[in-house]
Amino acid sequence: MPQNTIVRFVKRPLGLVDERSFAIESAPTPQPADGQILLRNFYHSLDPYMRPRMTETDSYIAPFEVGQIMEGGGLGVVVESRHPDYKPGDVVRGMLQWAEYQAASPGVVMRKLESGGVAWKDYLGVLGAASLTAYVGLKLIGEPEAGETLYVSAASGAVGSIAVQIGRIMGCRVVGSAGSDEKVAWLRNELGLDAAFNHRTVTSMDAAIARHCPEGIDIDFENVGGKTLQAALDHIRPHGRIIMCGAISEYNEPGPGLERVFRIVSHKVRMQGFIVSEHFDKIPAFTTEMAKWRKEGRIKYRETVVEGLENMPRALVGLFRGDNFGKLLARVGDEPN
Ligand SMILES: NC(=O)c1ccc[n+]([C@@H]2O[C@H](COP(=O)([O-])OP(=O)(O)OC[C@H]3O[C@@H](n4cnc5c(N)ncnc54)[C@H](OP(=O)(O)O)[C@@H]3O)[C@@H](O)[C@H]2O)c1
Repeated sequence: MPQNTIVRFVKRPLGLVDERSFAIESAPTPQPADGQILLRNFYHSLDPYMRPRMTETDSYIAPFEVGQIMEGGGLGVVVESRHPDYKPGDVVRGMLQWAEYQAASPGVVMRKLESGGVAWKDYLGVLGAASLTAYVGLKLIGEPEAGETLYVSAASGAVGSIAVQIGRIMGCRVVGSAGSDEKVAWLRNELGLDAAFNHRTVTSMDAAIARHCPEGIDIDFENVGGKTLQAALDHIRPHGRIIMCGAISEYNEPGPGLERVFRIVSHKVRMQGFIVSEHFDKIPAFTTEMAKWRKEGRIKYRETVVEGLENMPRALVGLFRGDNFGKLLARVGDEPN
């Protein structure tokens, strides 16, 4: 067996995460025990939630332990099996280590995949958790109706870019914000949004929302938090819904805190958080609808792919600067046939 490359989490960041929280190491390739499989990992998903996991806090998922091998959603191919249900060549999606090779115990968090005529990486991308998040957040919590105004922050990202397109399919007037003129042009020209703006260059979020949502917001698909959420709340319409999907502006540093909270009462607003892993029962419905929309050409999709395990820490840090355009993935090994 060849030597194994791994990425270890070695230091809890204070404030903005940087590459010093990670160490790239060489280690012996593990041997699978009875009931285990040996995986060669070939794709990884890089996601904002990884930053809150670096802080010791009470959350829906345990924090990373200092010294552990980093982990996240990934794809691996079985190279050796000591499990009756798996054979070499099977491909799995699951919570995988940032490692070339790992011994793993298949369980509920690891599913065997059929290639199904799509690229393997689509199972982390357009058919993956971020797209499912957009689907369940918008449909189950947002409950959009045709003609309503939907505002989506981080709109060119993995979740946001799918949320805006499902919003359009459902007949909403869709407004998005993103962090570069190139991203804004894509939202307007390729995804067909009714309006989009660059949150880095506007004079204020409040003025931008007032200008682009003159009738107010019926549904806020909130990915950013902080002053973005404040502006959305200040322009929410009666019986509006705030889908609390994420608050990326608050993952490295605490946010400013919400003001004018009484507006939630006066405007009878429903504000609800959710975590996609509680909605995996919606995967079949999501997969069917997404396949149909893609066939009809109604869903466009972008991704940023970095090469190699050793570049994953830098890419993760870049998520918090907006370096990615669409879903951020890392290709860490050759794809199986
Ligand atoms: N609830 C759930 O189950 C669930 C599941 C998946 C994701 N999420 C959440 O959904 C949100 C989007 O995740 P994603 O995977 O789709 O990531 P993403 O949008 O593909 O990437 C993150 C983007 O956020 C923007 N951003 C970063 N820091 C920012 C800041 N301080 N202020 C404003 N914008 C900032 C950047 O885009 P710009 O260039 O546009 O600034 C960056 O590219 C995150 O909050 C994430 O935690 C929630």
